[in-house]
Amino acid sequence: MYLFIIQLIIMDLQQNTLFGKKVIKSISFDEQEIIRDILFLHANGKDIDCDPTYSIGNFYKKGLKQPKYKFDLTPQVDGVIQADARSLPLENESQEVIMFDPPFMFGGRDKQQEYLMSKRFTIIQSFDDLKELYQSALKEFFRVLKKNGILIFKCQDFTDTYTTFTHSLVLNWANEIGYNAKDLFIFLSKGAMANKNIEQRHARKYHSYFWVFQKSKSKVTYHVCSGT
Ligand SMILES: C[S@@+](CC[C@H](N)C(=O)[O-])C[C@H]1O[C@@H](n2cnc3c(N)ncnc32)[C@H](O)[C@@H]1O
Repeated sequence: MYLFIIQLIIMDLQQNTLFGKKVIKSISFDEQEIIRDILFLHANGKDIDCDPTYSIGNFYKKGLKQPKYKFDLTPQVDGVIQADARSLPLENESQEVIMFDPPFMFGGRDKQQEYLMSKRFTIIQSFDDLKELYQSALKEFFRVLKKNGILIFKCQDFTDTYTTFTHSLVLNWANEIGYNAKDLFIFLSKGAMANKNIEQRHARKYHSYFWVFQKSKSKVTYHVCSGT
């Protein structure tokens, strides 16, 4: 009997439903699905108010509305205002949902500048510069977010001569500022960047992360189980 019920649940999950209700999964090959699910679960179905790294706005399709405020350090399309994510022309506590998708590659240890992707996604000079950008932007978003506001932070780990687990660092930096981590989604891609001239020594990254942080007054204590 129990086996039958478990089999039914497994069958149901394969259809992305559980007892007829949609199941929101932590993984997807579809960025828009992840963002829609985040807004549904954590932002009461609201839209994104502000995207400070808008670039060409690839996120905003398949039913996702354009944000009211679109900024970028180097605007590429009409309607985007030139601004630095570390110093936004926005009032304190004025935004409910922010989407942040900064560059994730940094130079200095290898020849990443030659990568095709770096032309559009821009490369940060060094790890220290990445750290400064991410930490300062997190502080700025804390200023402009309303109480209980949501920050969606897309990030990716980066391997050149060794792997930097950026998504873990982002969690630490967000916690230090006072955000609570509400959720973590993983976007899977079918392809990954590779330099064919370099011998592979680390797993090729076929995924990136969407952190969901909340600006809330109550601090969440994270418990780490000892396993005993
Ligand atoms: C990964 S791309 C964003 C792609 C975008 N989500 C899209 O869907 O098209 C990163 C963007 O961040 C911008 N950027 C880099 N540093 C920035 C800063 N300090 N402030 C604002 N934008 C910045 C770059 O110009 C680039 O357009």
